[in-house]
Amino acid sequence: MLEKLDELLEKAQQELAQVADLESLDTWRVTYLGKKSDLNQLLRNVGQLSREERPLVGQRGNEVKMALEAAYEARAEVLKSAHLAIGLEAERIDVTLPGRPVRVGHLHLSTQSLREIYDIFARMGFQVYDAREVETDYYNFELLNMPPAHPARDMWDTFYLADTLLLRTHTSPGQIHAMRQYCPEPIRVILPGKCYRYEQVTARSEFMFHQVEGLAVGKNITMADLKGTMYNLARQMFGVDRKVRFRASYFPFTEPSVEVDMDCIICRGAGCRVCKHSGWLEISGAGMVHPVVLKNGGYDPAIYSGFAFGMGVERPAMLKYGIDDIRYFFGNDLRFLRQF
Ligand code: PHE
Repeated sequence: MLEKLDELLEKAQQELAQVADLESLDTWRVTYLGKKSDLNQLLRNVGQLSREERPLVGQRGNEVKMALEAAYEARAEVLKSAHLAIGLEAERIDVTLPGRPVRVGHLHLSTQSLREIYDIFARMGFQVYDAREVETDYYNFELLNMPPAHPARDMWDTFYLADTLLLRTHTSPGQIHAMRQYCPEPIRVILPGKCYRYEQVTARSEFMFHQVEGLAVGKNITMADLKGTMYNLARQMFGVDRKVRFRASYFPFTEPSVEVDMDCIICRGAGCRVCKHSGWLEISGAGMVHPVVLKNGGYDPAIYSGFAFGMGVERPAMLKYGIDDIRYFFGNDLRFLRQF
């Protein structure tokens, strides 16, 4: 019996020395220390031995058990730290390597263009005035000198949200909001934002786009002020040698009304495809604020005068960057957006 125990101890120890991973270690434990192991069986049957043998085998059996348990703990310790070391090795990083560049987003081209326009007008003393995108028929048309059924309403195809509620077709209703807020103080503001038109979407027109409205109201404001402002805008946006011209036009809310053109930045007036061989590019609608509109804003047209203009944001950006389709702006194609 005692011999058998010694053999068992030796065999177990030899096998344990071969155990190289935690899984086989567990198999070893079940084999030599588990409930059904030879050692356990033997110890359980000690009672059936003779009186003389009983204490000897019992004692030796317990010694072997303790020796195997200690050996198991020691082996487990070694294997566990080796396992940990392998894990750390696999996760090793070289902290001296240069970092991987993180791709950060940037402002949308329309936002960049808007901010450039804000800067140009800020230098001329214009503040930014935020007006609503959802408007009433009253502000979008009536207060701008277009009573119901006025034929000029056809100039703006409109998305109606309800009977008298609509998405603004231009930033001009903001003129009324600004005037009613500041009256009778002088005003010099720009009103930027989104406009909506119920139109066929083409390479040249979107149903949503940005405009920047300008409004100056005060005493002795003349068309020369408007021209100087437009001239400055064209030069700051497109270069110091730009020429500007006023062409007679019509808007119900300005009198007189003009279209502001600048000489074509591609052909410099010679005529090309971009300017449709006219040599000029339209940059803004404008005019002197109509007396009815001044009155609707709270100003006495006998004392005050003002000018207003409304320019697109995407169109000038298209000219500047040679973009030939306005639909790219809001098509959300990153290959386009990343270029700016
Ligand atoms: N609101 C006009 C448009 O959208 C532009 C404009 C603004 C014209 C202010 C004159 C004065 O076409």
